[in-house]
Amino acid sequence: MSILQPKLGNYNLENYDVMKERFHWDDVKSQFSWSKTGKVNLAYEAIDRHVANGKGEKVALIYSDSLREEMYTFSEMKHETNKAAAMFKKYNVAKGDRVFIFMPRTPELYICLLGAIKVGAVVGPLFEAFMKEAVRSRLEDSEATIIVTTPELLPRIPIAELPHLQTIILVGEEEKLSTGSGKKFVSYYSEMESTVSDDNTIEWVDLEDGLILHYTSGSTGKPKGVYHVHNAMLQHYQTAKWVLDLKEDDIYWCTADPGWVTGTSYGIFGPWLNGVTNVVRGGRFSPDDWYKTIEKYQVSVWYSAPTAFRMLMAAAPEIMKKYDLSSIRHVLSVGEPLNPEVVRWGFETLHHRIHDTWWMTETGAMLICNYLSEPIKPGSMGKPVPGVEAAIINDKGEKLPPYEMGHLAIKAGWPSMMRKIWKNELKYNEYYSIPGWYVSGDTAYQDEDGYFWFQGRNDDVIMTSGERVGPFEIESKLVEHPAVAEAGVIGKPDEIRGHIIKAFVSLREGYEYSDELKQEIQAFIKKELSAHAVPREIEFKDKLPKTRSGKIMRRVLKAWELNEPAGDLSTMED
Ligand code: PRX
Repeated sequence: MSILQPKLGNYNLENYDVMKERFHWDDVKSQFSWSKTGKVNLAYEAIDRHVANGKGEKVALIYSDSLREEMYTFSEMKHETNKAAAMFKKYNVAKGDRVFIFMPRTPELYICLLGAIKVGAVVGPLFEAFMKEAVRSRLEDSEATIIVTTPELLPRIPIAELPHLQTIILVGEEEKLSTGSGKKFVSYYSEMESTVSDDNTIEWVDLEDGLILHYTSGSTGKPKGVYHVHNAMLQHYQTAKWVLDLKEDDIYWCTADPGWVTGTSYGIFGPWLNGVTNVVRGGRFSPDDWYKTIEKYQVSVWYSAPTAFRMLMAAAPEIMKKYDLSSIRHVLSVGEPLNPEVVRWGFETLHHRIHDTWWMTETGAMLICNYLSEPIKPGSMGKPVPGVEAAIINDKGEKLPPYEMGHLAIKAGWPSMMRKIWKNELKYNEYYSIPGWYVSGDTAYQDEDGYFWFQGRNDDVIMTSGERVGPFEIESKLVEHPAVAEAGVIGKPDEIRGHIIKAFVSLREGYEYSDELKQEIQAFIKKELSAHAVPREIEFKDKLPKTRSGKIMRRVLKAWELNEPAGDLSTMED
């Protein structure tokens, strides 16, 4: 597919090269109270500031699921988050304490998360689908003192095994309040009813004070607590403005859950720091439901993930045709490589370029992106945002020439970089093993125009017959085949070739596994890519193992293949 030129019209058309030259992160600070008082609070900047600036009546949150539909203005959000803050204070939450939130996407989740930030707590959002062991290890490691949850999820919190946990705030029916465990149980709704909103509840903090703890699992070992500070808001604000292109009258929808970094950095902080109306859809994915959400709320900017786009692609095309999606003006993707086939689908059906963005839990915000005024090369992640320096380097820290694969690394010092791995300095230092650089663990190359091309996680790159093959390129080609819905590619140890390429493939509706289909797919890869990229083995699966955030878990495929333990599975989908 050829290069996609920017659309003219209602876009951020600031020149990339000029911004790269001129921009400095310090320029952003002047927006926030920090510049006047030396203190700040992200929740104030995201909500209360807009009320102070006369935008109190604007809708901040549009929430819907199959049972509820609610709207909250910035004034109402200010009021509610103040009350939640007072509730946390009443139950002894002090600056720096860890407040965990374990519940489905509902307005209460968003109110509690911002309320906890208002009192200077470090919030820890947990996916509602986590089971007991995943919940236990995160609460134990963080030494959280208080958790907000629902009666339905309460049985998954092993409270007796968590000595630091003192208080459980239950969002749900009061009669389900438990007693007798030595812990304090609090009813969210009665507490909120009896509390008054008071602006003085806000704890003013320093830019380097703790904000959020996101647990993320690596390929081995325990999940790590990635710790971010209030300073990250500079980058949440600026990238949401530049890359999401948020403007005053946008209706923005980020489909990610706050249990995942995208759902906080760009599901909460980025849009609200820019004072934009934010759509949250509760419940599970369904193509009808998603298109209906866009149509009903007139979503204009839509941030989602390749896995979701692929599921929409795999659904019957008639479903999309039932809805009017003309409100959309800008579409973006994150989380895993964006296959050119998905970009083509977006262009042909939504009539939009899907903009890829690359970043990580550890980086806190977007780093490499398709900036609006720049052409898109489908399959590439784009270029570093102004204010960020990225490079492809070797083990010695030397920059590599165009098209050579190496470590994707970032020059240390962007505002939203993690400040530590909770209680694990050793792990933190591993990211900086090459002096001056944050080493991402991703392998990529850069082309002569400065675009970055993702190849895989370091441990995913396949050496076959002396050639280095990135699994992503093959996966992208596989999903171009009409029968293939999703694909995961790994290297399988082989005495002769070092590794052979093995593909795990799930089929689209209407296709069935057969030897002919397998050969047809192999011939397709040979013709379209190259002979050395052909998967010698193809195994058909109903479903591929994926994280809840949509990443195909190649390490699980590898473990299946080698009959080895698959490691931490707490982030895997049901
Ligand atoms: O391997 C890269 C992949 O996801 C990793 C980070 O995962 P996580 O911490 O869960 O954060 C995801 C959302 C911020 C990266 O090291 N990844 C993320 N975005 C992309 C990507 N791979 C290719 N293209 C992307 N746009």
